[in-house]
Amino acid sequence: MRIKIFSLMALLMIASLVLAACGSSAAPSGSSSGAATAAPAAGNGGAAAGGTVGIVLPTKDEPRWIQDETRFKDALTKAGYQSEILFSQGDSAKEKANVESLLTKGIKVLIITPQDGAAAAASADAARKAGVKVISYDRLIRDTDSVDYYVTFDSLAVGAQQAQYLIDKAGSNKGNPLYLYAGAATDNNAFVFFQGAWKVLQPKIADGTFVIKNSSAAVELQGKGDLTREEQAKILGQVTTNWDFNTAKTLAESNLTAATDADKGNVFILAPNDGTARAIADTFAADKAVKSFVVTGQDAEKASVQYIIDGKQSMTVFKDVRTLVNDAINAAVALLQGKTPDAKGSYNNGKIDVPAIQSPVISVDKANVKKELIDSGYYQASDFQNLP
Ligand code: BGC
Repeated sequence: MRIKIFSLMALLMIASLVLAACGSSAAPSGSSSGAATAAPAAGNGGAAAGGTVGIVLPTKDEPRWIQDETRFKDALTKAGYQSEILFSQGDSAKEKANVESLLTKGIKVLIITPQDGAAAAASADAARKAGVKVISYDRLIRDTDSVDYYVTFDSLAVGAQQAQYLIDKAGSNKGNPLYLYAGAATDNNAFVFFQGAWKVLQPKIADGTFVIKNSSAAVELQGKGDLTREEQAKILGQVTTNWDFNTAKTLAESNLTAATDADKGNVFILAPNDGTARAIADTFAADKAVKSFVVTGQDAEKASVQYIIDGKQSMTVFKDVRTLVNDAINAAVALLQGKTPDAKGSYNNGKIDVPAIQSPVISVDKANVKKELIDSGYYQASDFQNLP
């Protein structure tokens, strides 16, 4: 995998140098500009030759996106690139300004994880107008035909693995209290994760294994295996964490306040990602009427890996960000060379079917945490305490 990234980056460097030699794109003015560009590092050959790929990520406040930043930097630095990544800090207006500044710098490819999938359509349109190719990274930009390519994990599988974990832990017991939580309604992924989870959970709600405790909309729809986006939106409206730890905590607290002791006991919790899982887990752990809980997560954030080792979070879904970065760079190289990146399918964004490449995900709990996250070289054993 390392070798592959390296050779791709070498290609990217060549492509970039070619573009810089033939084109007239404005040279980036250096790191102080905050340019999220990947351009050949200044070496004996002189100053950086031209902005080529711009990268915009949603927020520095979640470890998930720091993982992506780190892996992008690793890949780009290895190939002799300077890189700076711009963050939108949860603000669509800032994201738009970031993209505008990159377009001014003459990037040729924009790799972007939209803060708000629909709001980012305007930025994609501006990029298209400027002749810049757009790669939607992890989250899909919606309702525009200006997206050239989508690199993603198998997000339906993320939800399905979370749901399956809850089912496996419930075994043949019936009447298990189930609390549902979801991501931000502005993020297309939140729908896909929920859809994946619902499809697997719903038959086990219908047969009485689980009893939903915190969403009247979900209870109303519990007879349906396949939900429309509007139906999902109704449920998300009641159980969204907005991908925010504090919102997750407050929502869990108010759910537990509204619930009776009989709604607690041995509890099952669908938590959409690691940050919200830790907030929700801490809240449930503090409630005396909760005897035990099984809680899902996603992203294999270090803090959650430690929680899993310590028995405070049950599982996470590992999404190997190295693969996603590799896929994004691979697609950028193809686009820089005027080629069409390999697609293994497509995702409909409300307007077009966006060609996509999708990476698998892995369900991780205490039993396989060492194998999947340490032995695979993703993290160091020294990052954790009491590793099994
Ligand atoms: C990503 C998750 C992440 C979440 C919150 C989703 O779009 O796929 O990995 O946890 O956003 O940032």
